[in-house]
Amino acid sequence: MRLSIVIPAYNEELRLPGMLERLRAATKAEEVDMLVVDDGSTDRTGAIAQAAGARVLRLERNGGRGAAVRAGMAAAPGELILEMDADGSVDFEAIGRFVAHLDRHPGVDALSGSRNADGSVIAVPQPFLRVFLGNGFLYAARAFFGWDVTDFTLGFKMFRREAALDVVRHQFDSGYLAEAELLVAARGRGWRVVEMPVRWVEYGGSRIRPLRESWRSFWALLAMIRRAARGGYDAPAERPSFAGAARRTKALYRGLGWPALFARIRFITAPYDRLEPYVPLSGLVIDLGCGYGTFSHLLALMAPGRRVLGLDLDAAKIARAPLGGKNIVNRLGDIRTEALEPAACILLIHVLHHLDSFVAQERLLTSCREKLNDGGTLVICEVNCVPRWKYGLGWLADRVLYPGDPIFYRFPAEMHELLARCGFQSETRLVHEGTPFSHAVYVCTKA
Ligand SMILES: C[S@@+](CC[C@H](N)C(=O)[O-])C[C@H]1O[C@@H](n2cnc3c(N)ncnc32)[C@H](O)[C@@H]1O
Repeated sequence: MRLSIVIPAYNEELRLPGMLERLRAATKAEEVDMLVVDDGSTDRTGAIAQAAGARVLRLERNGGRGAAVRAGMAAAPGELILEMDADGSVDFEAIGRFVAHLDRHPGVDALSGSRNADGSVIAVPQPFLRVFLGNGFLYAARAFFGWDVTDFTLGFKMFRREAALDVVRHQFDSGYLAEAELLVAARGRGWRVVEMPVRWVEYGGSRIRPLRESWRSFWALLAMIRRAARGGYDAPAERPSFAGAARRTKALYRGLGWPALFARIRFITAPYDRLEPYVPLSGLVIDLGCGYGTFSHLLALMAPGRRVLGLDLDAAKIARAPLGGKNIVNRLGDIRTEALEPAACILLIHVLHHLDSFVAQERLLTSCREKLNDGGTLVICEVNCVPRWKYGLGWLADRVLYPGDPIFYRFPAEMHELLARCGFQSETRLVHEGTPFSHAVYVCTKA
């Protein structure tokens, strides 16, 4: 079975039939198993779901949304497992888009829908009080579990099977916080989770009582923080989490003075966490313009199957970069002239705009395409122009760190044209959450 859709439902006899009909129409092209988890309903939820063509897993006692999702995901047969709310407020076009994204990017283990990520649309918003309280919770959770997460509570996540089964074993809250905990557990356990924008159309009919739920969520958040502090979501050694690998990378630089400080700054200013899932776990990875090698060390630490080569023109940076393990070499090289080996992945992280002309950028991208294995990925991170104040900060940092150097920024529309001209098909993610700068990430494959 290709895709299982797990829908926890408690007394949903009114909303389910219409929702299941819409779902069936939207997923005609997929091989889908719809599993409604009847969470001890006292109405005809189970019978109605069955009549509408879904399979039903009946829980005798009402255990809460989290318990129903856990039971459903553990019982779902799909290679991909989507858990989603019974209100069906996320536009179902996202389902095909999520499946296609996981097919294109084998290194990504899970996709988490977000109503706030770049590209998301709120066509009909939730009632004001729910939005207000939801945002309060979002900021509290971000403070503890990562400023880069733009939506903790949306019930719309798609996992690869292995990740789903592991995550539900490390998810304990049965109430409103279950969604946030799925995300925290997935990231903590070393699965590579990417946020995806969704279109939201509020269908109403929710029986959640916002104030009571907020009070409960507050306590549940404290329990989650306590669990995290005790290592309840820690990753196994063979699959380090991003946070764990980032700590080990920073430790490599300890005592090195400015490079140590710079590595710390890079983890705050660069969206490494959103780039890493697109780097294959094995094969040659070439980090062009690696600087002190911060990202190349992180990549090597996260996957021993990767062979990482970093190249930089600046002899002082290469001399001061730490050595690292067996699967990484950072060395001197001019990326405009260096003859590259065929690679599974090539990275250009904040480098293109430092080349000495727009023509040099195009030439480099063309040679990257030649050196990329079939099915390989080129990952580019460049400066984006909005929000303006974050763009301004990035611009300032470039002027201060590279005084006198010419800077050749290209923004998304222009980059798209350039990448297409150089023979790439590209997906763009605009990200600035959790960093003081604004970035455009381009994930490119050969067209
Ligand atoms: C902003 S830094 C980015 C460093 C690194 N990618 C990171 O994420 O920390 C840009 C780097 O590109 C390097 N660079 C610029 N032109 C280059 C060239 N022609 N060949 C190799 N490296 C170059 C610079 O020396 C500098 O270290």
